[in-house]
Amino acid sequence: MTTAQKLSFDVQLTDHARTVAEREQVLANPGFGQHFTDHMISVDYTEGVGWHDARLLPYGPLTLDPATSVFHYAQELFEGLKAYRQANGSIATFRPFANAARFNASALRMAMPELPEETFVESLELLVQTDREWVPTTEGHSLYLRPFMIATQAALGVNYPSRAYKYMVIASPAASYFSGGVKPVSVWLSTEYTRAAPGGTGFAKCGGNYAAAFVAQRQAVENGCDQVVWLDAVEHRYVEEMGGMNLFFVFGNKLLTPALTGTLLPGITRDSIITMAGDLGLEVAEGRLSIEEWQAGCESGELTEAFACGTAAVITPVGTVKGADRGWTIGDGTPGPVTLKLRDELVGVQYGARPDTHDWVHKIC
Ligand code: PLP
Ligand code: COI
Repeated sequence: MTTAQKLSFDVQLTDHARTVAEREQVLANPGFGQHFTDHMISVDYTEGVGWHDARLLPYGPLTLDPATSVFHYAQELFEGLKAYRQANGSIATFRPFANAARFNASALRMAMPELPEETFVESLELLVQTDREWVPTTEGHSLYLRPFMIATQAALGVNYPSRAYKYMVIASPAASYFSGGVKPVSVWLSTEYTRAAPGGTGFAKCGGNYAAAFVAQRQAVENGCDQVVWLDAVEHRYVEEMGGMNLFFVFGNKLLTPALTGTLLPGITRDSIITMAGDLGLEVAEGRLSIEEWQAGCESGELTEAFACGTAAVITPVGTVKGADRGWTIGDGTPGPVTLKLRDELVGVQYGARPDTHDWVHKIC
């Protein structure tokens, strides 16, 4: 029943929108995830009824019973994608149906209801159209869209999943995720903590994965690194992904990225890069790489570059690697040509400066 119903959104515009001057002040220096637009989306779900009360509302706080399930058992999931101001002034998102599909894959794992893909995309369109003035025009900036779903039944029992949920979308103008722009990041190998184990929730974009990651991310920062790199749960040797990004390794004109074993997030940027790299005549393999192979490859000069990729991070070079008992530099520590070429191609398609040969760009307005 949840996939068949066609929802129509009730639109309630805010009567306290930020002034043009206030908005411009935010857009001059948006940072990442710190400022939000004037509106938000809210759709409710009740078991036996399905999705209902689809609304565009003024952005604002929620009032929830302290017994609400999400506060106790973290039955929650989210997505992340961006709206890009196109070269011709229009606004588009990138592969939103891929986010919709991943949202539903996460929902199935978290015993939450699927949202019809059209409703997911329609909710993004409505929010972006309404708050279109918040889509930055500065080069490299975008409007980050954060759809999410929480369990809203007020009950503490764990004998059955929540019988009520709320889907929401908020939007936040964004500059680069890393303040240094395309500056290479340093990474910390987490051998002490595990992000995801076989059979767990690694492939789902659920908040709990991130909650469990903060201790290692803090350790990375305490060790002078920007980001944590997760290793496999069994041997703590094979590279999986980073805090909010997938990883690629470059061996001359060959790329290697960790295979989707179920313990890492199937990134949409990762998937796009695999296709784009093929278009550019690069060979791409999905496999595995141990930290020993990573280090040896850099020392022999065979492994020439490494980069992280994700919606927020786009494509970010990795410059140095550090662990409890080792550390090395990748190449000469500066962004490599393959990384920069792929970044240029991807950003070119996302912002409408290059042809969209795979039909990835979804025009909104
Ligand atoms: N891995 C993790 C853990 C993430 O949070 C993200 C960000 O969404 C990614 C990878 C990259 O995914 P995508 O390219 O779809 O943004
Ligand atoms: C994204 O790239 O959308 C992410 O989810 C990364 C992070 C902000 C969680």
